[in-house]
Amino acid sequence: MADHEIRVLDESNFRAAHTLFRGALHSGPATDERWEQIKASYDPGRAFGAFQGDEMVGTAQSWPALLAVPGGAEVPAAAVSRVGVRADWTRRGVLSALMRRQFQSCREAGEVVSVLRASEAVIYGRFGYGVASRGRQLKVDRHRVALAPSDGTGGRIRLVDLDTATAVAPEVYAKAGLSRPGMTSRWPAWWLMNLDRGLRYDNARMAVHSGADGDDGFVVYVVKGGMEEPHGKSVLTVEDLVATTPEVWAELWRFVFRVDVVDEVIGELRPLDEPLEWLVADRRVVKVTDVEDETWLRLLDVPAALAARRYAAAEPVVLQVRDRYLPDNDGSYRITPDGVERTTAAADLVLDVDLLAATYLGDVSFTELAQAGRVDVVDGAALARADALFATGRAPWSGTYF
Ligand SMILES: CC(C)(COP(=O)(O)OP(=O)(O)OC[C@H]1O[C@@H](n2cnc3c(N)ncnc32)[C@H](O)[C@@H]1OP(=O)(O)O)[C@@H](O)C(=O)NCCC(=O)NCCS
Repeated sequence: MADHEIRVLDESNFRAAHTLFRGALHSGPATDERWEQIKASYDPGRAFGAFQGDEMVGTAQSWPALLAVPGGAEVPAAAVSRVGVRADWTRRGVLSALMRRQFQSCREAGEVVSVLRASEAVIYGRFGYGVASRGRQLKVDRHRVALAPSDGTGGRIRLVDLDTATAVAPEVYAKAGLSRPGMTSRWPAWWLMNLDRGLRYDNARMAVHSGADGDDGFVVYVVKGGMEEPHGKSVLTVEDLVATTPEVWAELWRFVFRVDVVDEVIGELRPLDEPLEWLVADRRVVKVTDVEDETWLRLLDVPAALAARRYAAAEPVVLQVRDRYLPDNDGSYRITPDGVERTTAAADLVLDVDLLAATYLGDVSFTELAQAGRVDVVDGAALARADALFATGRAPWSGTYF
């Protein structure tokens, strides 16, 4: 019998859960002032604690969101976060128990998928999460930036205060829409914990672009170093950049490169196919310094997830999916451009559910996975068919860190 039990948390223990989570990541507890802001971000019924008696030893929670999938549908998703187990309780199955309980409750809530950002890449694969989108880190020597010729947008960019930022950003985000696979809706607490916190406490700035139809894009950035540290490098980090059109996207980046007293511009977890190199005259000023996993995706309901996305024109393929944690997902699925059905037909390719998640938004091909020995190939010709069916036009990307 387990030496701990999982319970749903309520207001009386949200703060203890938050302190436990921060402690697991080696941070101190939130101050009273910060807690006033943070407590609103705990959704009743969605946070769990692992307890031995009255003592909490682990926690995990999630927010309800929507995930854009290939073809444009938006599926109910659990955005999982604040996962932590006390250092003196790790490797005793606490996270495993929390995950099982969370899967059950998300499925009861009708959530088709779950998404998270992982502190370490070795944690979540065993629970059926796969890396479904990645981002690249960019570093640009601002002094060497010469912008490629452009007519601009004819719009205007203005720096805004916290109140305006709080009003404008969610509206612009909604206007821009979940325009590529992997994007998620942003829940109220996300804005609070990111935009509000950044502008209020972390010296972040927000610049809003407006055109003929009003506000249509914004960038949030923070500058560190420079004047505060004599002889130090002044580094501008783009934290968030949302645009309703490609022209506005380009204009916001041009704005970023024009901010004075900046030596270096950094973009974290930017889309793999963001064409920043084409915005500048000398493409070598845009250095890709890292490529990291972004979205870890768990298909909670495989039939519903497979049915929600669209497939490109290609001959059908039969995928056999293995799911150790949620065995009712186990089985074979015949995938065609017209849809998906469970089948008893012989499988062409056999793979675990975390690897299906990795292919789901288009981040990796079946051929690549097979090359690495991660897919059992029954029929070699099926790899090209599966790649073609799952192909998407754009690199998947979320852009929402939580
Ligand atoms: C990650 C963490 C939550 C794991 O909790 P845990 O209770 O130790 O996990 P479990 O005991 O249920 O582990 C299940 C399996 O995953 C493995 N595992 C879990 N976390 C691991 C890690 N960080 N590195 C390597 N293996 C890990 C365990 O060895 C175990 O393997 P087994 O099934 O083969 O025995 C915990 O280590 C932690 O709080 N870390 C610091 C905070 C953090 O990183 N949180 C995640 C934020 S995204």
